[in-house]
Amino acid sequence: MADFTVLSSSDTSVSAYLSTTDDIRRIVAEACSNKSAFSGIDPYKLREDIARLGFLPEEGIGWEKTAETIEKTIAPHMLRTWSTDYMPHLHSPALIETIAAELFIASFNSSMDSWDQGPAATELECSMIKGLLGLYGYTEDGDGVFTSGGSQSNFSAIACHLNTFLKKRYGHDAKKHGLPDFYRKLRLYTSEISHFSMEKSAHMLGLGYDAVVHLPIDDLCRIDITEAERIIMHDIESGLIPFCINATIGTTDFGSIDDIEALRAIADKAGCMLHADAAYGSGAVMSSRYGNRLGNLSLADSITVDFHKMFLMPISCSALLVKDKESFDAFMLHADYLNREEDEEDGYINLVGKSLQTTRRFDALKVFTSFSMRGRKGFDEIISKVIGNAEYFYSLIEKDPDFIISCPPQLSSVVFALRGGDELNKKVRRQLLSEGIVIGQTAYQGKTMLKFTLLNPALDESRINELYSKLKDFTER
Ligand SMILES: Cc1ncc(COP(=O)(O)O)c(C=O)c1O
Repeated sequence: MADFTVLSSSDTSVSAYLSTTDDIRRIVAEACSNKSAFSGIDPYKLREDIARLGFLPEEGIGWEKTAETIEKTIAPHMLRTWSTDYMPHLHSPALIETIAAELFIASFNSSMDSWDQGPAATELECSMIKGLLGLYGYTEDGDGVFTSGGSQSNFSAIACHLNTFLKKRYGHDAKKHGLPDFYRKLRLYTSEISHFSMEKSAHMLGLGYDAVVHLPIDDLCRIDITEAERIIMHDIESGLIPFCINATIGTTDFGSIDDIEALRAIADKAGCMLHADAAYGSGAVMSSRYGNRLGNLSLADSITVDFHKMFLMPISCSALLVKDKESFDAFMLHADYLNREEDEEDGYINLVGKSLQTTRRFDALKVFTSFSMRGRKGFDEIISKVIGNAEYFYSLIEKDPDFIISCPPQLSSVVFALRGGDELNKKVRRQLLSEGIVIGQTAYQGKTMLKFTLLNPALDESRINELYSKLKDFTER
């Protein structure tokens, strides 16, 4: 019988902790016996079932009954990310040791804002950031912080760069005075297929979507460098002010990789900052076979690294790395109750000064746990396998007249369509969903396309062959 106190040093609390977490582990373990990604339940039926669970009863029903509800009503219709039939999004299964690390994180409930809320957590995050700077080619002049995900890492990067740019170029203190009078001229350049966190960031920073210039892409779905240079230089001549270029290192749909070297040269010519949104592609740094596809990421002024995508860690887990630690000035503010300057002088590091968040999770533990356990070689195997799977599937469809292809995969995604039109492709996705096979749908050159986002290293060539045949069956129906 579980005891509903907080986790504490009492025996009853510890025993309730063990039995309660055991119950949850058992429910998950039983759900694992189901290999399909989804039950296929109709959304209206699921909504009714969930609505029947109620909200806040006057008297609680106790742990056993609550666990039973989770087991019977919620667990069966959870999306099973571990299924090799789950491939619509950049949404991965989780490495087992990082699930265990999540339990540790929640149990200690550390917070990363000040040293006194997480001494070992603060020191470990700092140490992991130091390691990550080295992994992506930055020096000790850089810095970094864990964030809630790629969107927050991107937003933080753009906020930092806007702050730095205005200060260095115009001596304007945006932290104090807000945006300058000429703010309508500021421009952020990014691929036409980059993640929408660029638009959201521009809006939240008070610049609006109008400040985002979409650069056209080439045949490989990368920013067209000649066009990019022409557009940016023309904008400068017209009196606009480029403050940042975003290179997407792994676009959300295609996994295409912008040319960081060429974009660095354009950024230098334009006198602006360069961000690398490597939310997707950052994992490929571990691959001895494919890692060099990323280019030299240290040329960027900042890098978004998501651990809850290719690195297979539970949500949430991301980091923003900056080449120059001064970039975090945008977030630095002292509060008497939290991050006193005298503490920092005495070696108590308060990480709140690098983040948008105040209370913040100890996600660095997940990275430490899996890096320590698997080493670079372990990740090399995983990441090379998933990129190899994408190459294999592409090799099957590339010359098959039943298929329309987009660009060849650079990472682990393949975007394609069955010949037969948009309606057929939409039907294929819905039909597969009802069979528990979840694939993606997007658009390319005005056509509805299907998408395999292959993050699961358990997927093998024989299952890829089966999926390929299943798709071909639709063309014969
Ligand atoms: C290229 C890219 N950047 C940023 C993001 C946003 O990441 P998150 O969902 O972790 O906020 C995504 C999400 O898929 C992405 O594909």
